[in-house]
Amino acid sequence: MSRTGPDGDRLPRHVACVMDGNGRWAERQGLKRTDGHAAGKEALLDVVDGALELGIEWLTVYAFSTENWRRPTDEVRFLMRFNESLLVDHRDELHEKGVRIRFIGRRDWKVPKRLLRRIDESTALTAGNRKLTLSVAFNYGGQAEIVDAVKQIVATGTSPADIDEALIAKHLYDPEMPDVDLWIRTSGEYRFSNFLIWQSAYAELVFVDTYWPDFRRGHLADAVADYQSRSRRFGGLDT
Ligand code: IPE
Ligand code: IPE
Ligand code: MG
Repeated sequence: MSRTGPDGDRLPRHVACVMDGNGRWAERQGLKRTDGHAAGKEALLDVVDGALELGIEWLTVYAFSTENWRRPTDEVRFLMRFNESLLVDHRDELHEKGVRIRFIGRRDWKVPKRLLRRIDESTALTAGNRKLTLSVAFNYGGQAEIVDAVKQIVATGTSPADIDEALIAKHLYDPEMPDVDLWIRTSGEYRFSNFLIWQSAYAELVFVDTYWPDFRRGHLADAVADYQSRSRRFGGLDT
């Protein structure tokens, strides 16, 4: 845990988190990979509480990637059901805490209809909340997101001269999502795995060795403190 703790005046507005290492966490203790996903729920709920305590505005978590369909059918099926029941079991308490739930990702035929229904219900239930936006990336890929944005733009007949960064950003899955300030990945892997690649162009990256099921709000606070020690220059110079 951090010695000084984060400075409340210089918080990252948007924190993004790759919740990685569930399978290895489970294997390490002789459990099934899916037990690792189940254990990851505690981490997610604790990190949401931590974000609320710190006063972070946006938290985006990577729950299922467009590449995760490559996993065994049983694991994929587990993840679909698991995410569905997570929403059903916890949306009321999240709602009471002032959390606005949102989703980013491709709503295609591969995602079970029932899960899409839960997603819509949870989004509608919590739409008026403003304390923290919890954005869940599901069937999400950063490259797919850019492809989908370009398709929409082309379909409107926009002239090439009118295409700029702001226009592309307006056509991403959640146009209201601010750019990522702090990008965290657990489990000691050092790659993007297609997570928020457009929005993270100038994010500060923090990699931690902890497997996701062991990650708690204290780790989040440490990452925020690390973020606050960085000098963000955005291509310019320190003043
Ligand atoms: C992340 O944990 C959760 C999802 C991808 C759904 P993993 O399942 O990738 O766990 P490891 O990386 O195999 O340990
Ligand atoms: C990224 O983790 C996806 C999620 C955490 C949902 P992966 O475990 O799928 O990424 P790779 O395969 O190690 O790059
Ligand atoms: Mg992984």
